[in-house]
Amino acid sequence: MKDQIEALLKEVAQVQLSGPDEVESFRVSFLGRKGKMKDLMAAFKEVPGEEKRELGPMLNGLKQAVEAKVKEAQQSTRTAAQASGLDATRPSGGVPVGTHHPLQVVRREIVEIFQNMGFAVAEGPEVEDDWHVFSGLNFPPEHPARDMQDTFFVERDPDVLLRTHTSSVQVREMEKREPPMRLIMPGRVFRNEAISARAHCMFHQIEGLYIDKDVSFADLKQTLLHFARCFFGPDTDIRLRPSYFPFTEPSAEVDVYWGLKTEVDKRITKGTGWLEILGCGMVDPNVLEANGIDSKVYSGYAFGMGIERITMLRYQIGDLRHFFENDVRFLDQFAGER
Ligand code: DAH
Repeated sequence: MKDQIEALLKEVAQVQLSGPDEVESFRVSFLGRKGKMKDLMAAFKEVPGEEKRELGPMLNGLKQAVEAKVKEAQQSTRTAAQASGLDATRPSGGVPVGTHHPLQVVRREIVEIFQNMGFAVAEGPEVEDDWHVFSGLNFPPEHPARDMQDTFFVERDPDVLLRTHTSSVQVREMEKREPPMRLIMPGRVFRNEAISARAHCMFHQIEGLYIDKDVSFADLKQTLLHFARCFFGPDTDIRLRPSYFPFTEPSAEVDVYWGLKTEVDKRITKGTGWLEILGCGMVDPNVLEANGIDSKVYSGYAFGMGIERITMLRYQIGDLRHFFENDVRFLDQFAGER
């Protein structure tokens, strides 16, 4: 038994262990439930008393040598892995995934509501000419929106400009299509505004246009009521206030009833409980005629809403600038929205 222990001591001293798997199988072969130490301890019980005095410390020495070897080998494999920049024992950090931008979430939801009512999606260019943004929409030559103060011009005479509203896509589609047409037209628009919490030089709109025989104001109102109830909830009420746009007659602005329950409600609705969400009206016969549609046969309605405004209401976002700064701390809050 003495020889056996000495041989094992030598083995332990000489063994080379590389990698955590080898260290573990070495440890198990000595210290495991069926390991060599176990066998030796069983044999030790059988030896006569005087031999025990010599063999006992030897056995202890062997156990300590094995433990020391294991510890040393574990440490050196760990530092070797760390030195190579690889720590296989480190918990994984997870894979960071992006989130949908809140404007995208709201835009998609609005478009889907109208698609479910049979509207098709259309898009047009951001760089436009005077005809599609103004003249084709019945803006008189002296209208203030044509001013440099409101519009970004790329070139003058002939005018090339950034569209100030998605209503330009109405004109493009009327040129391309024959009625009936039922279209929803999302897009980015630009205005020469000082950037603040409430205004930006770039924002997004969604335009709607329906042209057919016998389209009435009641159709418009019912469509917008349905939209408001899909988007804001089934009990939502709307009201229409008379307004003016060059391209619709009559024109209206639509408010949704937001409520007056909290101080915030009072502030954002200016104490009325109502919030304006869009502009709309019956397409002016001048617009139909200018775009080759017989206004004695066809009528239509149109509407336009700002995506930022509706997104700010939905998520209670107080500052428009958040949408364009792409601060991950802001965007992360929309994780899980589709
Ligand atoms: N283009 C308008 C704006 O930018 C919004 C608008 C109002 C669009 C009435 C329409 C409409 O189609 O009928 O403020």
